[in-house]
Amino acid sequence: MNKSPRIFLTRRLPPQTMRRLDESATLLSVDLDRPLRPEELAEGIRDADGLICLLTDKIDGELLDANPDLKVVSNYAVGFNNIDLQAATERHVAVTNTPDVLTDCTADMAWALLMTSARRVLEGDRLVRSGQWSGWGPLQLLGTEVTGSTLGLVGFGRIAQAVAQRAKAFQMRILYWNRTRLSPQREAELGVEYRELDELLPECDFVSIHVALCDQTRHLISAPQFAAMKSSATLINTARGAVVDEEALVAALQRSDIAAAALDVYEHEPEVQAPLLEMDNVVLAPHLGSATINTRTKMGNLALENCLAACRGERPPNLVNT
Ligand code: DGY
Repeated sequence: MNKSPRIFLTRRLPPQTMRRLDESATLLSVDLDRPLRPEELAEGIRDADGLICLLTDKIDGELLDANPDLKVVSNYAVGFNNIDLQAATERHVAVTNTPDVLTDCTADMAWALLMTSARRVLEGDRLVRSGQWSGWGPLQLLGTEVTGSTLGLVGFGRIAQAVAQRAKAFQMRILYWNRTRLSPQREAELGVEYRELDELLPECDFVSIHVALCDQTRHLISAPQFAAMKSSATLINTARGAVVDEEALVAALQRSDIAAAALDVYEHEPEVQAPLLEMDNVVLAPHLGSATINTRTKMGNLALENCLAACRGERPPNLVNT
């Protein structure tokens, strides 16, 4: 009889995934609803065949050395910048992620941020709650017209393409920059135009970030990029905080190099630069990109599937080591 794999889970996941985990594996977990400290993580993986972890768990070589028999690190996220991929590969540990299942949900969030910022919804909410609203006014909280404006997508993977699809309904002109350019036929199908990053930024009313965080994209958007943007532009970030140089963002907003920002992710989560907290033209969400029960359940099931496959010695569906 096959022994059921021992899986260490760093934090409780949606109920359906927890049931599946219980049925298919021996669950090792500390069941604390907070990010684990490095020593708790090391203790947790010591007897495990597989690890299911979160973007808040830092997985490096030192941690992996706590268990040379660990087969897989299954990340409950599409981004995997929390994992030292090289260290895992050197130790023959498979690393997996959860692409596709969160694409629409994250694209919806980028749109929620864009609309909230453009139409000043949070400022309106604060005004109503303050009891200071004196009624409709012709010049009150005038926002930015979304329909017919120009959207710039920095990175053009699955999520950016889903954002573009939604933008078409708003008759937007859609520009994109990506490491690799699509074929002219695919660009025509999607209704998008390619630009180099420095050409894209000055043309856009909204710039939405969709690149993975890696050495090449850290601080991709910094002081020179803000200086190149329209002073009426809005920056939207649902990717990873450190793609944007947050200090440069604060300075750009203070200097009115750009008009607004709508952020779901931060350079040093959960810390947020203090000046951003004071700015009315900034929308701040707490990393909610994939936060619906449906999406989080699909992510959990996929993370489990990846983990079980690697524990069985099979190639997991979403292996990211090359
Ligand atoms: C991811 O999967 O990388 C997201 O940031 C989680 O919401």
